[in-house]
Amino acid sequence: MKYVTYEAGKGIPSLRLETTSLPALGKGEVTIAVEAFGVNRADTLQRQGKYPAPPGESDILGLEVSGEITSIAEGVDNWSVGDKVCALVPGGGYAEFVNVDARHVLPVPTSVSLTEAAGLTEVFLTAWQALTTFGSLKTGDRALIHAGASGVGLAALQLCRFKGVETATTASSEKKLAVCREQGAHLAINYKEQEFDEVIKSRWPVGVDFILDVVGGDYINRNLKVLKRDGMMIYLAMLAGRYADKLDMALLLAKRARIQGSTLRNRSDNYKAALVDDFVKHAMPGFANGALRVNVDTVLPVGQIQRAHQLLEDNATMGKVIVTW
Ligand SMILES: NC(=O)c1ccc[n+]([C@@H]2O[C@H](COP(=O)([O-])OP(=O)(O)OC[C@H]3O[C@@H](n4cnc5c(N)ncnc54)[C@H](OP(=O)(O)O)[C@@H]3O)[C@@H](O)[C@H]2O)c1
Repeated sequence: MKYVTYEAGKGIPSLRLETTSLPALGKGEVTIAVEAFGVNRADTLQRQGKYPAPPGESDILGLEVSGEITSIAEGVDNWSVGDKVCALVPGGGYAEFVNVDARHVLPVPTSVSLTEAAGLTEVFLTAWQALTTFGSLKTGDRALIHAGASGVGLAALQLCRFKGVETATTASSEKKLAVCREQGAHLAINYKEQEFDEVIKSRWPVGVDFILDVVGGDYINRNLKVLKRDGMMIYLAMLAGRYADKLDMALLLAKRARIQGSTLRNRSDNYKAALVDDFVKHAMPGFANGALRVNVDTVLPVGQIQRAHQLLEDNATMGKVIVTW
């Protein structure tokens, strides 16, 4: 099969097509003939040599795919050859075929094309996990979603609207903020022109119940200022760098705040299976009735994989970059 190879730390030009053989199908797995794969920051970091694959997982890039099931391990009875699916994979997505735990496979919603479905799993499962597993958000709550026009951000804004949660969000341009508003943001703040904490305090003096932050940096204490007492902040990334500002402990204690960090990739197979199950039961119906949709920024053929990584690294996207075979 063809796959995309790279040399860790050697830059975007090192991404190129090679051939390899598909590993044997493991217990509980299905093989997917990949129609398309989603491109994620984790892939660009792995290519840069900063985020190696977890031990035992494929070195091939790629955390999410869509395609057709071509073979099924003995004992897997919930999928059939020919099913059109999308899946969360721990690696190996940038290839013509991938073997995946059958419990990490999702049906493609009828309203979503097979190509679009390649961009569904990573951001929607991440956002769903943050809002529900960690945040326990309920109708009437308020959330602050940073980087609102990112893949994770737009999925989170849509899911908040789906659950009746009011949202404030941040992004770097009016164009991005317009998309955030269209996807449910009630308060859209250009963080380059306004201090998000001041805007939120003036509009919602009581603050927000939950904050999803992928930035870090000097957001940490400013987040605490707009968090309600007993509220929660979840950190999923550190786009502003590895070290955040010094934590204001007085603010943390006074707010009785909880701070959680998480990465989906290094969760156990059972954890991911339970998350997929919960998402399929409770969020998937939102795709059928039009409340949720995959935000596709750009679709590129695999020959343009270098451009796909460049778009992400330039912060030039609003939603998913998808690459097709
Ligand atoms: N922990 C997990 O389980 C998990 C899972 C999935 C993704 N992630 C991480 O979550 C982050 C978002 O993922 P994604 O796929 O949604 O990313 P994305 O679509 O590539 O969007 C990222 C956006 O973040 C904003 N940004 C970048 N640097 C920033 C900075 N220094 N300060 C403020 N905003 C900044 C940019 O938007 P603006 O132009 O508006 O600034 C950029 O377009 C990534 O770092 C990704 O690795 C984590």
